[in-house]
Amino acid sequence: MASGIEVVPGLVHYPGYLDRAAQEALRDELRRIVAAAPFFQPRMPRTGKPFSVQMTNCGPLGWVSDEAGYRYQPTHPTTGEPWPPMPPRLLAAWAELAPGAPPPEACLVNFYDAGARMALHQDRDEAELSAPIVSLSLGDTALFRVGGLTRGAPTRSFRLASGDAMTLGGPARLAFHGVDRILAGSSTLLAEGGRINLTLRRVTRA
Ligand code: SIN
Ligand code: FE2
Repeated sequence: MASGIEVVPGLVHYPGYLDRAAQEALRDELRRIVAAAPFFQPRMPRTGKPFSVQMTNCGPLGWVSDEAGYRYQPTHPTTGEPWPPMPPRLLAAWAELAPGAPPPEACLVNFYDAGARMALHQDRDEAELSAPIVSLSLGDTALFRVGGLTRGAPTRSFRLASGDAMTLGGPARLAFHGVDRILAGSSTLLAEGGRINLTLRRVTRA
């Protein structure tokens, strides 16, 4: 069983959860996913301001954002095709890191180039909040920030490196979190550089 560090109650960090061979295998699977479901540029609700992060998804549902709002939907916003299936190794990570939770329905794939970041937010578009969010990171290290249940609560930051896993569950399931910055050049996994983060989510009530 993977050994984790509880950073704040409910947030467990598993440094080096995936070894290099597993990271490379997942990277190669993601290439096939992105070939079928290309990265798209999400936009902020109402304003339409583009995110600095590019996104795609795999699994029965995918998270999208545009002028109409945040939501999960079964198809890619530009191709209109269903999202590619979730690779078995992601289902295996969920089974290990979220034991007893109902199966994941969405895997959001975020791509950060050297200048990308993600503002503090809560993951609360899911109806099933008893299941954790399971995160896997590949490529350049991120400076990740976690806070509390209100935007003004104190925050702390730590690094998520290539191969690290993290779960946000229990009292941290609705914790504010974000990515302050990417440490460019910190990993050799992605030939073009940058960071990929995968978050596995249960969406509907089990
Ligand atoms: C997210 O909150 O959707 C992504 C977090 C991360 O990139 O580590
Ligand atoms: Fe999030």
